Amino acid sequence: MENAETSYRALTDSFGRQHTYLRISLTERCNLRCTYCMPEEGVELRSKAEMLSFEEILRLAHLFAREGVTKIRLTGGEPLIRRDLAYLVGKLSAISGITSIAVTTNGLLLVAQIDALKEAGVSLFNISLDTLREDRFKEITRRRGLDKVLDAIDATFRAGYEVVKVNCVVQRGVNDDELLDFVALTKELPYEIRFIEFMPFGGNAWDNDLFLSYEDMLSTVQTAHPDLVRVDDEPHYTSKTWRVPGYRGKVGFISSMSDHFCSSCNRLRLTADGNLKVCLFGNAEVSLRDMMREGKTDEQLLQVIAAAVGNKAAAHAGMLNLAQMDNRPMILIGG
Ligand code: 5AD
Ligand code: SF4
Repeated sequence: MENAETSYRALTDSFGRQHTYLRISLTERCNLRCTYCMPEEGVELRSKAEMLSFEEILRLAHLFAREGVTKIRLTGGEPLIRRDLAYLVGKLSAISGITSIAVTTNGLLLVAQIDALKEAGVSLFNISLDTLREDRFKEITRRRGLDKVLDAIDATFRAGYEVVKVNCVVQRGVNDDELLDFVALTKELPYEIRFIEFMPFGGNAWDNDLFLSYEDMLSTVQTAHPDLVRVDDEPHYTSKTWRVPGYRGKVGFISSMSDHFCSSCNRLRLTADGNLKVCLFGNAEVSLRDMMREGKTDEQLLQVIAAAVGNKAAAHAGMLNLAQMDNRPMILIGG
């Protein structure tokens, strides 16, 4: 292998963090309108020509894999809206060095695509679901579709996935009374429910009063399940994982705000329009799309990537500062 000797310098930042995980957003479009992700008035959608083509995505994925990326996650918007997704997954999973391809989806279109996506090489699905109540689903996502999401989760288990991760963004006074209902799901099936602290992004309705911390969520779950046990997490795992003894699934908490995990961050993001974003909460971005379209070589791209990674900050600015900062809405970053 020509690169067996590389030390992956380009993707190691000034704090020694080596980036092995690339999140690629495939589209800015979505068939839901979650309040925590999209501004009320929607977002201005850019044209298809401004989005990275599959060829461009694959070129970058090869480059990142050559520099040490092993894990890819496809996000959006809603990635299943992107046509021929299974074709792209097949090509990505054939890249040498890529060992895992995960997809974050709202599940609405999953039932029809699950077999093709599994066949193409998707290793894991994260399905977003914040409530188990139809009326509330409509309030949070501004659309209907709870049944479809539940069907998608069933279909994922039926397709043979050993675990289904469910992303649940918790907001005080919105869905925090459902924590125990979600925990109950883990009794019979190997769900991994991930309770996520509500994060401030451009244009979302973030408010300190809606924020519920990991500590508070954990205390609610522990009150009902005093025997809750902590499970060992893998390195770089963003979730603090627990289990009710005897239950098949697990419950995790993503404390991005109250106890961030920046010091072990191994992630980079590519927005749908081709910008490299080295931190979810940073607004420094560089357009790899423009460079590719200007005919730059892989080595030139790599220099710019290395410089961006080299400038990555040690940690994000803290919840209250982030709430005041300019950043893209989450829908334009890619969950
Ligand atoms: N806070 C926390 N998580 C968010 N997501 C989107 N917006 C936010 C936010 N404001 C995450 C959720 C969702 C995925 C697509 O992105 O986990 O499931
Ligand atoms: Fe769509 Fe996911 Fe954003 Fe909801 S959170 S609007 S499902 S991209």
